[in-house]
Formats: sequence, structure tokens, C-alpha cells
Amino acid sequence: MSDVEALKKEAGIAACAFVKTGMKVGLGTGSTVKHTVVELGRRMAEEGLEIVGVPTSLATEKLAIQVGIPLVELSSIDGLDIVIDGADEYDPQFQLIKGGGAALLREKVVAQESAAMVVVADDRKRVAALGAFPLPIEVTPFEYEATIRALGRLLDCRVNCRMAGDNAVVTDNGNMIADAHMGPNITDPVAMEAAILNIAGVVQVGLFNGMCDAVVLAGSMGVETIINPRGRLN
Ligand code: A5P
Repeated sequence: MSDVEALKKEAGIAACAFVKTGMKVGLGTGSTVKHTVVELGRRMAEEGLEIVGVPTSLATEKLAIQVGIPLVELSSIDGLDIVIDGADEYDPQFQLIKGGGAALLREKVVAQESAAMVVVADDRKRVAALGAFPLPIEVTPFEYEATIRALGRLLDCRVNCRMAGDNAVVTDNGNMIADAHMGPNITDPVAMEAAILNIAGVVQVGLFNGMCDAVVLAGSMGVETIINPRGRLN
């Protein structure tokens, strides 16, 4: 296992400390939180933990079923106690860029139904200002090149359609992903989120503002849980 993979596993497992029997848990997407999902399945099988989960992608749904976590739909419950998810970047204000795995829409829907959000990450994800990681934006298939052009005009930067070989990546929702190469200079993510959502053809943007309550961060010195002083876990 590489050093980075080991850090992801450490963070993913450590975040399970937030999960107690009886909780309804949002299950995020990505290579870090997959360790959380596996560990929650292990605790259910070996330690009597009882939870239900809501997955944020088809990939996580498949993994959760494999490890034995019972799944429910948001429409059948009255909100979630917590969501645990990865991030591509987080800044000192606990603002996030997400969507590197193209799951941002479902991740945001699940996060907004959760009483708390815990992010699992390795320390490469901590940044002074968001934007070095290209900002993922989910757009409708209809005339998506035109929507991407409009985003380029708004953001005044290169915006690419995310590709898998010769084909545009298609999300779990049947949409495309535009990646905006802003550079590490997103100083007002709240205003930027609103401006991007104002473009016709945009479904959602991977800026998660005011949602993250804690980051479980793994680095060479070990795992650190950083609580957002303005968050709901404080
Ligand atoms: C999925 O769309 C993303 O938001 C992921 O949660 C994010 O990209 C972090 O993924 P990794 O843990 O694989 O880096």
C-alpha cells in the first residue's frame, strides 16, 4: 500500500468514531471514504453496530451492499444524523471543492439533508485558497458545449468537458462534468457558487460552502480531527 493510500485508510477509519448505533449515515464517494464504508460494514458484522446508510453514488451503493450496510432512501426518512465524505480541497474556512469523482450532485443533496458533515482527507487536500484543483461543475447534456462556453466567459478561465478517452464522462445522473481551471484564487466561494448556479444548463457546482463541520485529516504525524469552530459539531 502506498503512503497516500495508507493515509486515506487511516483517515477513513478514524472518522467512524463519529458513528453510533441508531444513526442514519450519508455514505460519501471516493478512494478515502471507501475505507469508512468498509469499516462501518466491519463494525456492523463484528461489533453489533446498527445503522442505515444513504449512498452518494452508484459506486458507493454497490460497496455498501457488498459490506452489508442496509440502505434507505432520503424520501423515506426524516434527515440524516451525519454524512462522511471525501474532498478534493478544503480551506481554512472549511469550504470545500468536491466532485473529482463526478459525484458532486448526489453528494450535495445528501449533505444538505445531514445534521453534520465530516470530511475525510489526507493532508494534500488542505489548501490556503481553493481552486488549484479544477472546479467540477455538473451540466445538462443539452448543448453542454454551449454551457461550458458560458462558464468560461463567467469565470474567465479554461473550462474543459471531462473526458474518458474519446467520450464525455457521464455522471450517475446522466449529465456531463465541466472542470474549471481557476487556479488557487477562489476568494469568495459563496458568491462564485451563486454566480455559477445562475448559468442555464448548470445542474450543480462542487463548491460546498458552510456544510463541513469537521475534517479528519491524516498526515505523516498521524490523524488529526479538526472541528469547525462555526460548525454544528462544536
Ligand atoms: C467525488 O465526486 C468527490 O467529491 C470525492 O469525494 C473527492 O473527489 C475525494 O475523493 P478521494 O478521496 O478519492 O480523493
